[in-house]
Amino acid sequence: IRDDANAASAYVADYVVDRIKAFNPTAENPFVLGLPTGSSPQGVYKILVQKYKAGEISFENVVTFNMDEYVGIPRDHPESYHSFMWKHFFSHVNIHPSNVHILNGNAPSLEAECVAYEDAIKRHGGIDLFLAGIGEDGHIAFNEPGSSLASRTRVKTLAYDTILANSRFFDGDVDKVPRMALTVGVQTVLEAREVVVIILGQRKALALQRCIEQGVNHMWTLSSLQLHPHPMIVADEDATLEL
Ligand code: GLP
Repeated sequence: IRDDANAASAYVADYVVDRIKAFNPTAENPFVLGLPTGSSPQGVYKILVQKYKAGEISFENVVTFNMDEYVGIPRDHPESYHSFMWKHFFSHVNIHPSNVHILNGNAPSLEAECVAYEDAIKRHGGIDLFLAGIGEDGHIAFNEPGSSLASRTRVKTLAYDTILANSRFFDGDVDKVPRMALTVGVQTVLEAREVVVIILGQRKALALQRCIEQGVNHMWTLSSLQLHPHPMIVADEDATLEL
């Protein structure tokens, strides 16, 4: 628990940098990083970019897999997760575009896209560290309430609560928010060697409480982290209000 969002973001950024450095990645043996979108990780990305510019970290031998992507908006839509990632992170660091993996929400076969994504993760030897945020309903990636805890990458219909929450990025208009997304599954996240979740603000307080103080429950999919051997939640004070 850190005092505020800035301190929590700094902690996570330092941690990610330390893990990459300790791994000592090479072109043959890159560090495989899972990444989230949303407002919560934005501070982390900002600090990672600063650290890159200060020469503290290189992303040359880092391979990334994003958690999720909307279905049905063009890749270059300003609110696509593809656009988000390039705008906030990838464009500012020395990552090779060929090392970036983001699900294609416009693939001709969404099912084939999901299978290929899981295959690509396996081909890279699995994810070393999955960084995540959560939704107000406790979802991790787009694993909405009721998702199987054994789920893998797939198409998911968004919960109305999520559509409402994310409408703030679509001119406040719920009708503009995509209804579906592609998302890694709960099991895909649990198979990462390490999972780090950043949780900021009072609006996440109930979800944090449900996910760590109650049992493992598919209605609050972050609670599945209780089954992981190496998880870490980094929260600001406000997010801990219900603990
Ligand atoms: C979306 C993403 C999640 C993210 C959540 C929270 O639903 N699919 O991965 O954790 O938004 O976003 P924010 O951090 O903006 O609250």
